[in-house]
Amino acid sequence: MQLKLKMTVAAAIAAVAGVAAAQEVVKIGHVAPVSGAQAHYGKDNENGARMAIEELNAQGVTIGGKKVKLELVAEDDAADPKQGTAAAQKLCDAKVAGVVGHLNSGTTIPASKVYNDCGIPHVTGAATNPNLTRPGYKTTFRIIANDNALGAGLAAYAAETLKLKTVAIVDDRTAYGQGVANVFKRVAAEKGMKVVDEQFTTDKATDFMAILTAIKAKNPDAIFFGGMDPQAGPMLRQMEQLGLANTKYFGGDGVCTTEIAKLAAGAKTLANVICAEGGASLAKMPGGTAWKAKYDAKYPNQFQVYSPYTYDATMLLVDAMKRAGSWDPKVYIPELLKSNYKGVTANIAFEPNGEMKNPAITLYTYKEGKKTPLN
Ligand code: ALA
Repeated sequence: MQLKLKMTVAAAIAAVAGVAAAQEVVKIGHVAPVSGAQAHYGKDNENGARMAIEELNAQGVTIGGKKVKLELVAEDDAADPKQGTAAAQKLCDAKVAGVVGHLNSGTTIPASKVYNDCGIPHVTGAATNPNLTRPGYKTTFRIIANDNALGAGLAAYAAETLKLKTVAIVDDRTAYGQGVANVFKRVAAEKGMKVVDEQFTTDKATDFMAILTAIKAKNPDAIFFGGMDPQAGPMLRQMEQLGLANTKYFGGDGVCTTEIAKLAAGAKTLANVICAEGGASLAKMPGGTAWKAKYDAKYPNQFQVYSPYTYDATMLLVDAMKRAGSWDPKVYIPELLKSNYKGVTANIAFEPNGEMKNPAITLYTYKEGKKTPLN
């Protein structure tokens, strides 16, 4: 009896030790600004990745016959290009299997070279500058439409649907702001709109009175802003103060947030915003409505724009690892490129350069302070 008991205990210890040894940790990196004026975007992104990892761990993940535990390694790049490359190097050194990020084109483009050099794939669900995929790195993937689609979609709406004739362009001189403004400018001009003024600011500014005063003198039908909501919110307030109450306000995905309604602080000019996002609206995503309810229950009042995409990006990486039977980037990158993944946001497949095949775009406006799809 005693002997049998001893053996049973020994067997149990061996079994536990065996499970512990079999359960390897696979690290997945996430990078976005979680400090500074853009922290609300970054936290939303990080929440999406964390939610995916928690769900996968709860279900149990087996890769190549081994039970694995996924671990999120979350970094902050503060939306700053230098901190972006430093965070990317940290993730390379930590030997993460893949990275979800970054959020800004200004950080993602320089970081993409770091990931390429260390051979780790990264999937962005937020950075939209087309130049990201231009170097042809095998490690760069994007699961939303880029600014060629966003800028052109907005210009077509301004010129053809609203029949606007004149526009002033403002950008924040970042890779994103400048890029999306240039696409809008080119396509708007092709469609017969006249660019009556061009002004520049930064992604740190909050006082736009001088540039708005200069723009007001040209009396444009619309302003296009290439930049993010910490600038767009105060700009809308200052437009109201200057009496630019009827000027349409166009912007890309960077202004298309929940937060902009707060930052505009009740300015009626919020209703003049028309912004574009590189994906379907939540209601038209394959799993958007159910996913959003789950997200809101877990992270109340934190939803901004891209968390469904960072959720899908995380799931997509693990899906490729499972199909490859390995989390070694060399082994699973070819599977990642061959993805045909039914995500919450869309069915995700890639072009050879890592751009998503057939991404949707959605235009929005703000009705009674609420972001509302136009299509
Ligand atoms: N789409 C924005 C960018 O590319 C967030 O920076």
